[in-house]
Amino acid sequence: MRKDIKSIDDITPDMYDELNAEIEKDFDEGCHGNCSSCSSDCGEPEFPKYAKRLYAVAGGKGGTGKSTVTAVLAVALVKRGLTVGVLDADIPGSTLPHLFGAEPGVEKKNDKMLPKPLPSGVKLLSFNLISEDLKEPVLWTTPDTSNVVSYFYTGGAWDGLDVILVDMPSGAGDVPLNLFTSFPVDGTIIVTEPGELAVIPTQRYIALASMLMSTPVAYVENKALAESCVSDGLYTLSPRCVKVAIPLSAELSALGSEGKIADALVPELDPVVDLIVNAVASKK
Ligand SMILES: Nc1ncnc2c1ncn2[C@@H]1O[C@H](COP(=O)(O)OP(=O)(O)OP(=O)(O)O)[C@@H](O)[C@H]1O
Ligand SMILES: [Mg+2]
Repeated sequence: MRKDIKSIDDITPDMYDELNAEIEKDFDEGCHGNCSSCSSDCGEPEFPKYAKRLYAVAGGKGGTGKSTVTAVLAVALVKRGLTVGVLDADIPGSTLPHLFGAEPGVEKKNDKMLPKPLPSGVKLLSFNLISEDLKEPVLWTTPDTSNVVSYFYTGGAWDGLDVILVDMPSGAGDVPLNLFTSFPVDGTIIVTEPGELAVIPTQRYIALASMLMSTPVAYVENKALAESCVSDGLYTLSPRCVKVAIPLSAELSALGSEGKIADALVPELDPVVDLIVNAVASKK
């Protein structure tokens, strides 16, 4: 239950304890698409597992390069022979169609949206592919936005893919909460950048993802400076979490701006690519 804020003393981290308990209960009782490990006889799960693996590419701070990393990773996975879908969960801040230079338009078959096959081989679903006017503000409440993101999953023809990457909006809120509690997420790929300003939002996000069992499986320190290295010890990450650093690169940024992100080569991401390729192979 939401409570009214009437004084500064009302603002505390645990002020929505009841709400947090509800979220955790929803998560515990919710469907995560893992029918093999579930005893419920529910018939069709609302959020079935369409792909062998689904990862959220996410982080607490805006502008760190989540969408860029999602796009580069998706193309690298296709080059390793996987079938890859990308779900753009950032409705108001959608950038993936621009990064890929994708033309608008999404086809439908049997009432399902067909993720748009791009020349790179990646299949993309994004609000910006269906929006009629990209300059119009998106005047939706956050629960509505979250519903649309859910529909991009349940109403998309994702079946049979090896991997789905979900490009998340920055920070917490309804979209990540809904996604982490109902989508069959196999793990989170945290994207952050060097610098003090990123530390607290990143820490909070790692804690959120871990609490909702979407544990960080990879940590990407993007826009790393020449003397920077992956921030070992700064964050509470599992020893099994793969850590990589991508250098600050004017060329990478330019390729994204020009809609040519599929041409970008980022070998620093190879350990993350290997992790996903191996995870998919273990599902065969
Ligand atoms: N390694 C890099 N070097 C230089 N610029 C980069 C790098 N990675 C991303 N960028 C640039 O940083 C900006 C933000 O990138 P991007 O949109 O991918 O971030 P984001 O985390 O998805 O942002 P948002 O929080 O708004 O979703 C873009 O201009 C992009 O070109
Ligand atoms: Mg983004």
